[in-house]
Amino acid sequence: MEKKIILGIESSCDDTSAAVFENNIKLSNVIASQKVHEEFGGVVPELASRAHQQNIVPVVHQAIEKAGVKISDLDAIAYTKGPGLLGSLLVGSSFAKSLAYALEIPLIEVNHMQAHILAHFIEDDEQTAPQFPFLGVTISGGHTQLVEVKDYFTMKVIGETLDDAIGEAYDKCGKMLGLDYPAGPKIDQLAQLGDPKKFSFSKPKVEGLNFSFSGLKTAVLYFLQREHQKNNNFIKENLNDICASFQFTVVGILMDKIKKAVASTGIKNVAIGGGVSANSAIRNALLKAEANGQLKAFIPKFEYCTDNAGMIAVVGYYSLLQNRTAGVNSSAQARLPLT
Ligand code: KG4
Ligand code: ZN
Repeated sequence: MEKKIILGIESSCDDTSAAVFENNIKLSNVIASQKVHEEFGGVVPELASRAHQQNIVPVVHQAIEKAGVKISDLDAIAYTKGPGLLGSLLVGSSFAKSLAYALEIPLIEVNHMQAHILAHFIEDDEQTAPQFPFLGVTISGGHTQLVEVKDYFTMKVIGETLDDAIGEAYDKCGKMLGLDYPAGPKIDQLAQLGDPKKFSFSKPKVEGLNFSFSGLKTAVLYFLQREHQKNNNFIKENLNDICASFQFTVVGILMDKIKKAVASTGIKNVAIGGGVSANSAIRNALLKAEANGQLKAFIPKFEYCTDNAGMIAVVGYYSLLQNRTAGVNSSAQARLPLT
């Protein structure tokens, strides 16, 4: 296929993002994160939707300008169809549909979870794409999934969370500790200064390759309440150790399931994605497992871990190669399954 210029649009949660790609190579990837949710300790859907409406035009404009192309150079528009918050998705989908219609170019629907996995295929000196088949591990504020990936469009969820997502566990635990939203990066940072064996939290007993994080959240809550009764400065005096012990438990839960998935599928290539893949302890645990010969780890460049339109544009490129384009009836879908 000759060179194609693709505009990607992502608006599934609280980041408005637009990217311009030439095939699978980034020309620009602009992300506007919404600060409005911080004071509420979590994403407020109605506010997210309104902020997307304010951001979408300037973000797309900036992505096109940064890429050094003209709007008339675009060959296709790829947008996040789902899963995500409906009000947020609708802003990106309406914009993408209208622009594709006006420019008379193909429109491409992208599954957000598939995009987190295929972010590894963005051609960039700072990351290597895994070979098929591989295990995709999508860990974010909204999702925790183990996916068997046979090729770009053949993916099967083999394990997922039954309750809270892994990033949600970080954010909720952080809230109990008085940390700002999203608390994941802060807990990660403080954990590096603490003792991971200081406090112990039990791991949930979940069958097969599924996960559960709500029990851990409750265990941390009761633990903090108990200790607070004895010493009302407990959190302040032990913050680093609490973070380290919590993180140690979470990484243990995740790594146990990854190793179990490697054993049961016989697939050793493990590619992580999603905001939580920025976590230092998860990265270290994967590299340690790789050094022990248990698996081969693929860790995306940070920019492509969190929600961004680059990953949407790259799926757009692979979709275009297979003529997977959408019609005028294309629309957002909050609960969009992976396969
Ligand atoms: O993929 P993402 O940007 O948005 C969703 O689709 O959810 O992920 C955001 C999540 C938040 O829960 C945030 O706390 C978490 O990723 N996160 C981290 C780290 N950096 C971001 N969690 C643990 N350690 C980190 N370093
Ligand atoms: Zn995401």
